[in-house]
Amino acid sequence: MKGIVLAGGSGTRLYPLTIPVSKQLLPISDKPMIYYPLSVLMLAGIREILIIGKAADLPQFRTLLGDGSHLGLDLTYVAQPEPRGIAEAFLLGANHIGDDQCALVLGDNIFHGTAFSKLLRDEVRDLRGCTLFGYSVKDPERHGVGVTDEHGKLIDIEEKPSRPHSNRAITGLYLYDNDVVDIAKNLRPSVRGELEITDVNRAYVAAGRAKLIDLGRGFAWLDAGTPEAMLQASQYVRTLEERQGVRIACIEETALRMGYIDAQTCYRLGTSMSGSNYGRYVMDIAEEFGALV
Ligand code: TTP
Repeated sequence: MKGIVLAGGSGTRLYPLTIPVSKQLLPISDKPMIYYPLSVLMLAGIREILIIGKAADLPQFRTLLGDGSHLGLDLTYVAQPEPRGIAEAFLLGANHIGDDQCALVLGDNIFHGTAFSKLLRDEVRDLRGCTLFGYSVKDPERHGVGVTDEHGKLIDIEEKPSRPHSNRAITGLYLYDNDVVDIAKNLRPSVRGELEITDVNRAYVAAGRAKLIDLGRGFAWLDAGTPEAMLQASQYVRTLEERQGVRIACIEETALRMGYIDAQTCYRLGTSMSGSNYGRYVMDIAEEFGALV
C-alpha cells in the first residue's frame, strides 16, 4: 500500500502564523505537526509516502525529511497549486499510487491510542473497498458524519449536517483500494469548487464497499487547525510524554520499532540532534535497542 500525507491547504484559521510557513511545519509540543500523520502511515507498515504541499513549502519539507532513506522510507513530494480539495490528492498522487492501494492522512490530524499499529496493519491487510475511521465528537455538525444502519453497516455520510444523524465524525485517515484514482478522476467539484473527500467516500458507500471502524473513547483524535486546537494538542502530547517518559510520533523511534532502521542508525540520528531533549530521547531509545555507544 502507498501512502499520502496531504499537507497543503491555506491554513487561514491560523493566520498570521501560516502566512510565511506551512501549518504542518508548526510545532505540536516539541516536533513539527507533520510528524504525527507521517508516523501513522509508518505504523500502518507503509514506507512509500508522497507528501503533497504548497510549492512554496516543499523546500522546507525536504529540508526536514529529505528522501526519507535515513528512516527507511521512500519519500517523494508533489505540489498542489491551489487547495482544490482533499480528493485532489488522488489525482496529484495517481503516478505514486500506480496500481496499488492507498492510505491518505491529513497533515494536521493527530491520532493516538493503544494498539493502533495492529489495528492499522489488520485493516490494511483485509482492505476491501475503503476503510474509514469514526470518532465520537460533541460537534458532529462541523465534520463529515458516518450514518450506520441497525447492524452497524455504513449507509451514508453526511457532510457538515445541521441536524446530524450520529455524532460519529469521519477522521482524516482513509484507506482505499485502487478504484480511488478512477473515482477521483470522475468527481465534479462541489459548490465550494473543491474535490470533496466525502464524495469519494459516498461512491464507496453506494457500492456497498465502505467500512467504518470506530476509534473508541480511549483513543485521541485531534486536528490542529486552529490556535486553540494546536495548544490543546500540544498540551495533550506534553502531558502524556512527561508522565510516561515516552514520546508520541517520534519518527526515528517509530522507524526503529517497525524495523525500518537498526539501532545504530537510530542512535546516529539522535546524536545529530543531541542538543535537544528530543534528540537525547532518540539516542536513549536506540541504546535500549542495543546500539553501541
Ligand atoms: P482544512 O483544515 O480543511 O483546510 P486548511 O488547512 O486549508 O485550513 P483553513 O481551513 O484554516 O484555511 O484542511 C485539512 C487538511 O488537509 C490540512 O492538513 C490541509 C490539507 N488540505 C490540502 O492539503 N489541500 C486541500 O486542498 C485541502 C482542502 C486541504
